[in-house]
Amino acid sequence: MYIPPGPSLINLPKIPDDRGNLSFLENKSHIPFDIKRVYWIYDVPGGEAWGGHAYHHSCEIIIALAGSFDIVVHSGKRSQLFSLNRSYFALLVPPLHWKTMQNFSTNSLALVVSDSHYDPNQYIRDWAQFKELTNV
Ligand code: TYD
Repeated sequence: MYIPPGPSLINLPKIPDDRGNLSFLENKSHIPFDIKRVYWIYDVPGGEAWGGHAYHHSCEIIIALAGSFDIVVHSGKRSQLFSLNRSYFALLVPPLHWKTMQNFSTNSLALVVSDSHYDPNQYIRDWAQFKELTNV
């Protein structure tokens, strides 16, 4: 599967059931990479923000499993805001995109699926360096 050059929303399967709904994702059929790591962000106080960095090479998929939050994704040239509040939408954030998660609702749960193992050297934390890397 092709990794788009910019952020994109993926519509995941949603199986309605009398007991509720079920959604899922599988390597390569719903997301364009093999999963190497999954982490989740929770207990974020309402209204709080998280993040503010980019990765050199890692690609991530973010899902609001519960509650809602906004994600601002900056390519270095333009900024896009995505409001996630349904667990069947997944936001794909490609490498070299600055991601800030904000406006968390109380008791929200953010699931992040990554194509890489955790590596602090993947992080770009300096905005000036990010602008330099993306303004090529
Ligand atoms: P993160 O939110 O990715 O970055 P920041 O350092 O900008 O807050 O990570 C928060 C902390 O969690 C940081 O100390 C690194 C650690 N961490 C891991 O150990 N493994 C992981 O997979 C992730 C995402 C973070």
